[in-house]
Amino acid sequence: MWQHLYLVSLATWVTALPTQSSSSSGSIHLTSRRRAIVSESGRVLPEVLTVFNNTLKKYNVGSYIAPYPGLDGTLSRRQSPVPLVDQCANGGNDLLYYGPIKIRDKTFTIDFDTGSADFFVPGSACGTQQGCAGSSKYDGAGRDLGNTTSVTYGSGAVTGKNYLDTVTVGNLTATDTNVIALLQAKGFSNSQSDGLMGMAFSKLANAKQPTFVERLIAENKISSKEFCFYLGRCSDNSGSTSEMTIGGRNPSKFTGTFTTVPLKKQDYWRVAIDGVKAGDIPVAIPGDAIIDTGTTAVVASPAYAVPINEAIGGIPVPLGSTGSLELIAYAIPCDSKTQIALTFAGQDLVMNSKDMTIGTIDISFATLLNHAPLISRVKAAEANPSAVLCLSSILQADVGVTMNPPVANFNIIGDSFLKNWYSCFSYNGASGQPGVLFAKSI
Ligand SMILES: *[C@@H]1O[C@H](CO)[C@@H](O)[C@H](O)[C@H]1NC(C)=O
Ligand SMILES: *[C@@H]1O[C@H](CO)[C@@H](O)[C@H](O)[C@H]1NC(C)=O
Ligand SMILES: *[C@@H]1O[C@H](CO)[C@@H](O)[C@H](O)[C@H]1NC(C)=O
Repeated sequence: MWQHLYLVSLATWVTALPTQSSSSSGSIHLTSRRRAIVSESGRVLPEVLTVFNNTLKKYNVGSYIAPYPGLDGTLSRRQSPVPLVDQCANGGNDLLYYGPIKIRDKTFTIDFDTGSADFFVPGSACGTQQGCAGSSKYDGAGRDLGNTTSVTYGSGAVTGKNYLDTVTVGNLTATDTNVIALLQAKGFSNSQSDGLMGMAFSKLANAKQPTFVERLIAENKISSKEFCFYLGRCSDNSGSTSEMTIGGRNPSKFTGTFTTVPLKKQDYWRVAIDGVKAGDIPVAIPGDAIIDTGTTAVVASPAYAVPINEAIGGIPVPLGSTGSLELIAYAIPCDSKTQIALTFAGQDLVMNSKDMTIGTIDISFATLLNHAPLISRVKAAEANPSAVLCLSSILQADVGVTMNPPVANFNIIGDSFLKNWYSCFSYNGASGQPGVLFAKSI
């Protein structure tokens, strides 16, 4: 997903942390930052719609066209003046998580994305005009493969030159890692970025090259073939303790035993999901779940999004359509305490109610969406603070129907869920096979 490319962060460098395997693992701190999708006072801003749009682009469903006027104008007007906000400074939502990497001795700030498999950095030709605003550029000192990688999305495409170079994350270094030096990032990302490291399976890679972690494994650099994420929550003051560990786990970040979920298919980190539990009501709807650190919220199929949002008192608000696919958001009472759990490998993995909302809906956002029932509810809430509505972090889009062949009940499980569950992406941890493992985050 490309919403990461909207953000810039100046993360601090690597810090050593204890891990289970002593000599061959590396942890780095992740910094959670956001471009303003939520105001200082917690109100949802129109920029959130761009983030959803970009999630759909990442899954190749194309751009969606809003049924309401003026959004593009609003967005482009807002783009330059809206400053980057350190998420933790005002206790709002955590948009994405960043950390540092090096190519040779040059540092880049990177979004680690388990939902894609290409590694992009701005090339030296990609300046602000071309859509790369950050100052770190790849100088092309590695081995030039003489070909390019193009990624198509919606109605456009971006291209970068392929190199093989030496890449370091924490204290782990892989040689001959494919680096895509972007020539331009316009439309794809129209703002500041350093780059993105895809951590799904190279089967998905447009570059047709192994990922960084696959290179580490091939070079025998890690003894434990896995990487794990701890995503903190700014509202708990744990945003700054977010981290990724490659080649092991950090026992100080989780508690209890792991639920091991074997992969259903090795392209994304794609597992079977058994169903969902809303309060005491289990709804068994087997489907696919992509565990995606690069998506902010959860983009669920109707079979999941409808019962979950109904259970928490949500009203559906259509956001727009790609032609074949509707994107539907839900307005839910901000104080809903109904417990939602996703069921993986027979275990109910609960989400904290804090993670069920993105922010409050004010009259200007409701007006932008031009949805009469929402506008009247939001107006009523102006006189009654207990009726304030929030944007649900469980969005609805049936992304699986656009796949070839179509996938029933396809769900993209992003950070709103992962903040609750320390997640390990293992190449052999499910009885020797790849799987995702979850333990309760501390
Ligand atoms: C690499 O870093 C980890 C912690 O991040 C540390 O435990 C380990 O000793 C380091 N290994 C080397 C070879 O420096
Ligand atoms: C999504 O992005 C495309 C361009 O990439 C744009 O045409 C479309 O209006 C956007 N949709 C929304 C709702 O922002
Ligand atoms: C680029 O060239 C390398 C080396 O010949 C090859 O392995 C790779 O598949 C090519 N990539 C693309 C996107 O064609």
